[in-house]
Amino acid sequence: MGLPLVLGCGFLAALPCVVLLVLRLYIRGHPVAPIKNRLDGRVIIITGGSSGIGRAAALECARRGAKVILACRDAAKAEAVVLSIRRKTSNEEVHFRQLDLASLVSVREFVGQFTKQFGRVHTIVNNAGNSVSPLKNHMDGHDMCFQVNYLGHFLLTSLLIKHANPGKSAANLLRVVNLTSDAYKNNKLDFNDLMDRKPGRYGMYETYGRSKLAMVLFTTELNYIYADKGVYAVAVHPGAVSTGLLRNWPGIFGSILRLAAQILFRSPEVGALSIVQCTAVHNPEDYCGKLVFDCAAQEVEEIGKDYRSAERLWYISRDICRLEEETE
Ligand SMILES: NC(=O)c1ccc[n+]([C@@H]2O[C@H](COP(=O)([O-])OP(=O)(O)OC[C@H]3O[C@@H](n4cnc5c(N)ncnc54)[C@H](OP(=O)(O)O)[C@@H]3O)[C@@H](O)[C@H]2O)c1
Repeated sequence: MGLPLVLGCGFLAALPCVVLLVLRLYIRGHPVAPIKNRLDGRVIIITGGSSGIGRAAALECARRGAKVILACRDAAKAEAVVLSIRRKTSNEEVHFRQLDLASLVSVREFVGQFTKQFGRVHTIVNNAGNSVSPLKNHMDGHDMCFQVNYLGHFLLTSLLIKHANPGKSAANLLRVVNLTSDAYKNNKLDFNDLMDRKPGRYGMYETYGRSKLAMVLFTTELNYIYADKGVYAVAVHPGAVSTGLLRNWPGIFGSILRLAAQILFRSPEVGALSIVQCTAVHNPEDYCGKLVFDCAAQEVEEIGKDYRSAERLWYISRDICRLEEETE
């Protein structure tokens, strides 16, 4: 075999590795470490803290001295995570409380228990999510993606704000960190069909994107109503992260995507950095209503700060959750 042939074969063999490496560098981007502030004395609720990004955020917040409440649906899984975080951080103030965002009753029960046992909350990390609705309709009759990713968090936050009685002094501030995704950008809510019930409307990626747009509009409206009352809401995009989020994606495409995610995507620890930044910064007012990616606050796209849509979504959500009697 001549030298040119050997070199040619070597080049062809190396090409896929080089392509993968470039792709990996591109997708992972340039993560930035969050500010190093400690979180002693802070009470932080993290929904879906039993796996993926939420679990990594919980570990880092516990390491910095916060009291962390994992609000999760699977008790056995969450208790194991609590023990592991306590062991790794020597912080005994890590707890699990039951929360199934697919049930508005469960959200109300969680808030009742939480306020009785822990008093006030300083930061709510609305992290739990799913990307596909294997069972579209569930006990509340709403689309699973819309309810778990957005509506359950809307109710949770609204009830906790009422109990937290926030104010502008540093001790009374309440931070709300809403997990969203880049997928929010290319979407539009249909206010006559928020649950994607119309024939042909449901699409795995589109429905997920709309639930994440709802989270951004929720952030916009929270700031509009509450920023001058000491509630600072921010949206976080964690980047493309290798977690369980893709576990229900069906078919061969789902299998390929899961494999690719393991090789190309960020780790949950990197995905959690922006959440930690938002819980730890001394100037949360500068992050208000912004989208944080790689620990930097960016402007939200027009679709996410459309005040008319944000207000409309807010009042429809209040109606669906029957909030009138519970909050002013
Ligand atoms: N991974 C990414 O590339 C990416 C990109 C953009 C945005 N995000 C967002 O980041 C957030 C965290 O996702 P992840 O990537 O860490 O995925 P993950 O590993 O699947 O974690 C999702 C968490 O949500 C919990 N959850 C699901 N349904 C729930 C329910 N009904 N009630 C309470 N908790 C529920 C899960 O609980 P179980 O452990 O019991 O299943 C799990 O702890 C999500 O909001 C996601 O949309 C992720």
